[in-house]
Amino acid sequence: MIKSLEAPVYVTQPALPPLDEFTEYLKQIWDTKILTNNGPFHQQFEKELADYLGVKYISVFANGTLALVTALQALRITGEVITSPFSFVATTHSLWWNNIKPVFVDIEPEYFTLDPEKIESAITPQTTAIMPVHVYGNPCKMDEIKKIADTYGLKIIYDAAHAFGVTIKGNSVLNFGDLSILSFHATKTFNTIEGGAIICHDEKTKRRIDFLKNFGFADEVTVVEPGINAKMNELQAAYGLVQLRHIDEYITKRKAITEQYRHRLTDIKGIRFLNDSEGIRHSYTYFPIFIDEKEFGESRDEVYNRLKRYNIFGRRYFYPLISQFPSYRGQSSAKPENLPVANKVAEQVICLPIFPELKMEVVETISSILIDKSN
Ligand SMILES: Cc1ncc(COP(=O)(O)O)c(C=O)c1O
Repeated sequence: MIKSLEAPVYVTQPALPPLDEFTEYLKQIWDTKILTNNGPFHQQFEKELADYLGVKYISVFANGTLALVTALQALRITGEVITSPFSFVATTHSLWWNNIKPVFVDIEPEYFTLDPEKIESAITPQTTAIMPVHVYGNPCKMDEIKKIADTYGLKIIYDAAHAFGVTIKGNSVLNFGDLSILSFHATKTFNTIEGGAIICHDEKTKRRIDFLKNFGFADEVTVVEPGINAKMNELQAAYGLVQLRHIDEYITKRKAITEQYRHRLTDIKGIRFLNDSEGIRHSYTYFPIFIDEKEFGESRDEVYNRLKRYNIFGRRYFYPLISQFPSYRGQSSAKPENLPVANKVAEQVICLPIFPELKMEVVETISSILIDKSN
């Protein structure tokens, strides 16, 4: 019988940079008294982030949700947007806040991203954009999505909240689509406590995004439209600059944990996990496993609750599907029969704990408890 863990282990624990490194920046903020409004750390952070990520233009935000809301406004998206039900609610909430109707399309069965084969039949005269999600940081089928968008004259906004630092043959996933958004929430691979960003490809769009995140101000006396207040403050930006020095180490540790889980869970009947794909640098933001009840002999919820009894708190990301929430379930595209893959996966998934400071012995214990149903 394996003993319960003494302290609870949650699905994630934020990675904090060394305090003394952050204190150096805080002293400067106390000296200058510049706290927000495109201050020097904000500017420096955008520059260093763009360099790190290998993108041309980036605008940092107070959080990822406001980045999504603003991205839709920046491109003047209206009517209907095709999106994935297998994501965090913020993806669809950003449409709601813009008075846009989400149209749910099913996901593909390999990496659970929006299925390009099912997009075309969901397009109507009201469709203006596609908002796919690089869920768990795995890149969407971007070439196929682009082909459809180009044929029908649609914009693409990628929700890349999970895809910090993800590259395809060395090129950032953020360089695809019209815009991409990132989240720097405390639970993400790269965090600024709360935070987010929009990535775009030209200076004019960056300027428009910067206006929109600052109430629509273009200058002291010109307000271009009702923008929101979504600015990142100087403390977050300074914290982000410190985090950038450590991000490679965080990703390396997450990768090692992922590999250890994979090693322990290989060939366990009824447990599936996702493998890396060739040419991709992954973010290792999550370690989802998928339980096939018939093969494994226990349901996902039985496994989830069994882990809890051992002080291990996985999360069922993304269950329930967004299309199941009261605000969205009345739509015809939300019907479960239209979303068979998403519905199945949502019933099977548990994300296991993963964070840089997670000890390998704990990964071992979690794996042992998971596999041994007598526990
Ligand atoms: C896929 C996805 N989109 C958007 C968000 C919203 O980001 P934030 O929490 O920074 O507002 C999150 C996570 O939090 C997310 O997982």
